[in-house]
Amino acid sequence: MVAVTRRPEPRGPLSERLLDALDGPVVPAWRLAQEAELAVDAAGAAVLDDDDVQLSLTVLYELHYRGVAGVDDRWEWSPDLVATRLALEEPMEQQLRDLVGPTVTLPDRVADVPAALFALTAADSGPSLSAHLARRADRTEFREFLVHRSLYHLKEADPHTWAIPRLSGAAKAALVEIQADEYGGGRPDRMHATLFATAMRGSGLDDEPAGYLDLLPAVTLGWANTMSLFGLNRRLRGALAGHLAALEMTSSLPNARYARGVRRLGLPDQVAWFFDEHVEADAVHEQVAAHDLAGRLVADEPRLLADVFFGAAAALATDARVCEHLLSHWAAGRSSLRDSGLSGDSRPIAGDSTPRSRRADDIVA
Ligand SMILES: [Fe+2]
Ligand SMILES: [Fe+2]
Repeated sequence: MVAVTRRPEPRGPLSERLLDALDGPVVPAWRLAQEAELAVDAAGAAVLDDDDVQLSLTVLYELHYRGVAGVDDRWEWSPDLVATRLALEEPMEQQLRDLVGPTVTLPDRVADVPAALFALTAADSGPSLSAHLARRADRTEFREFLVHRSLYHLKEADPHTWAIPRLSGAAKAALVEIQADEYGGGRPDRMHATLFATAMRGSGLDDEPAGYLDLLPAVTLGWANTMSLFGLNRRLRGALAGHLAALEMTSSLPNARYARGVRRLGLPDQVAWFFDEHVEADAVHEQVAAHDLAGRLVADEPRLLADVFFGAAAALATDARVCEHLLSHWAAGRSSLRDSGLSGDSRPIAGDSTPRSRRADDIVA
């Protein structure tokens, strides 16, 4: 059976009306977009931190991925829902641009795009979540980290795949090369999303897609929604390419630290496979993404230069916001999740019978 996203609990008037509507038959002229305008007004400039806005966007986006439990798939292209999405996306994109604007310096020459991207990611001074997880985090914190990341990693690569039909030539070939690895090179057991599901089960967590959605704060929803915002708007394909480049360029070292944390905490070895995989794969992916994807895209479409860097900076900024959220809550002795966190919601950590079919040294980009 193909898993769908479990229906979440509403977090305000907009998500309540949206979820109520989705429970019923598809109605072509329903006025949800007006409710979206009210929700945006209520959020002010901080839509990235607004639970009602971000949950509504998550639900609207999930209709384009695997669907939401109990919801008629024809809602996907309801004109009213598309209008609602656009009403939420516009202020979200603006907030992202305001957030990252001061951090971006564009290169003067197209040939300097890869080096400028490496400089941007190297200058990222966000809080080091990976260092904390490698050296100090306890098992509860590590499991919370997996729960936050699960919103993306259980469908890893899907948001960036939206760009494939929107690119051409060398950039398209580079993106397909990266995505083929992310999807396991034809082996479902090697898919990165599958490896992440294995890590969750090995940590005593449920690997149902978006199974912990109700526990995730707006900052985490905003981090994941940023990828879908870029992915589902063709005009933002440059931002999507830059976003992927930044992800790949900031992956290898942190993943080595996450794997170290897994082993320090004595979690089952299969929890580390996902992270081990990324240490080597992304050392290759970052080169492909910087040179062949981002570099060639800007060479072919120079007007996308600013958006490539906007997307890269947005990836760093939204990730840093999530890291800051986790570290600040843990430093205060609190759960980083909504409500009471994971207590009573997880199984004992046990061995996993899933065979590992790929060793770290098998990894080929
Ligand atoms: Fe991956
Ligand atoms: Fe990768």
